[in-house]
Amino acid sequence: MGEEIKKGLMGVTVDETSISKVMPEINSLTYRGYAAQDLCAKCKFEEVAYLILNGDLPNSKELKKFEKEERKERKLSKSLISIIKQMPKKSHPMDVARTAVSVMGLEDKETTDNSPKANLRKSMRIFSKTPVALAAFYRLRKGKKIISPKKKLSFAENFFHMCFGKVPNKDIVKAFDVSLILYAEHSFNVSTFTARTITSSLSDIHGAITGAIASLKGPLHGGANEEVMHMMNKIKKPENALNWINNALNKKAVVMGFGHRVYKSGDSRVPTMREYFGKVAKITKDKKFEKIYDIVEKVMIDKKNIHPNVDYPTGPTYHLMGFDTDFFTPIFVISRITGWSAHIIEQHSTNKLIRPLAAYNGSQHRQVQSLKDR
Ligand code: SDX
Repeated sequence: MGEEIKKGLMGVTVDETSISKVMPEINSLTYRGYAAQDLCAKCKFEEVAYLILNGDLPNSKELKKFEKEERKERKLSKSLISIIKQMPKKSHPMDVARTAVSVMGLEDKETTDNSPKANLRKSMRIFSKTPVALAAFYRLRKGKKIISPKKKLSFAENFFHMCFGKVPNKDIVKAFDVSLILYAEHSFNVSTFTARTITSSLSDIHGAITGAIASLKGPLHGGANEEVMHMMNKIKKPENALNWINNALNKKAVVMGFGHRVYKSGDSRVPTMREYFGKVAKITKDKKFEKIYDIVEKVMIDKKNIHPNVDYPTGPTYHLMGFDTDFFTPIFVISRITGWSAHIIEQHSTNKLIRPLAAYNGSQHRQVQSLKDR
């Protein structure tokens, strides 16, 4: 006995990565050395997806080739479409996403090839097809016809097109693009570490991403953006917010969208996402959620010194964009597939089976009594 247990691997460094880092000196999350805020200001999501997957920002020629491949792979197989059609309409879209990626794994001709090049090709197929599968379910469960992807549309525009049949104004698309950039990667968060753990036995990328989606669904992780919206809907009006949050704290409730394992004085992605939440609230002329947002945030910081994380502003932003609440975390998925894929490829490149120890606290050794004596 006596081994020190680090529950939740809190504060434990288990491996190295070159994909992203929170740099305290600039108080920013960086992807391959570029600050996320800088990327939001100067790039569109496809450029950042390329950066995370390939290690550098693309030039125009490389971006054109990447976009062409992403758009070419948007096509779903007939069998995947028929499977999505058979999924229960009440299924949670995160379970639809996980199942669709599993089916893609059954169909992918390179499933058994874990080489970096094959994994990159497979990650592009998962990256391109998952939004199409999700949008198909989005339409089907409302009794509507599936809308096919359009090659001339960007990744963000195409998702709106397939869900709603139209592309909103460029400022709304930009806000969505920014949310995808901010959601793309965040080092060894629980879903990424899940993907790396699955990969460490040399299992395949479809299985690793299926496991990562299952992990992201949890309300302590990606599922928080959905829970933030449920909280805001319970509060209903700004005048209820102060009472509501004080009651929640008195009941020692966990307030969704707040706190973080790594950021203890504020998630560096929040200021940027909060700015775009404000832009979308202005365009949609719905300031109610912004008022609730600010009241709850002030109480959490003043009373508990607990700051919002990226899920807090993204929830109401996606609501104002018109997405169903249970589609908020699937949007996190279509972005984070890039980060997960990069980590899966990195894990393969320097792999060591991930197998921690446990401190045993069960029964001491004892003899087995035969059944008639028990
Ligand atoms: C994401 O890791 C990543 O990078 C994740 C992510 C990514 O990009 O991949 O950033 C995305 O998942 C963001 C987090 C989304 N989750 C939520 O918003 C759920 C609510 N947050 C909490 O569950 C919590 O903050 C965690 C789980 C996110 C982190 O918690 P820790 O690091 O395990 O710390 P803890 O739960 O032990 O909290 C420390 C103290 C506790 O109080 P005491 O028991 O010491 O008195 O702070 C309190 C907690 O009760 N606390 C909260 C709180 N978060 C922490 N109290 C109320 N509401 C909260 N949200």
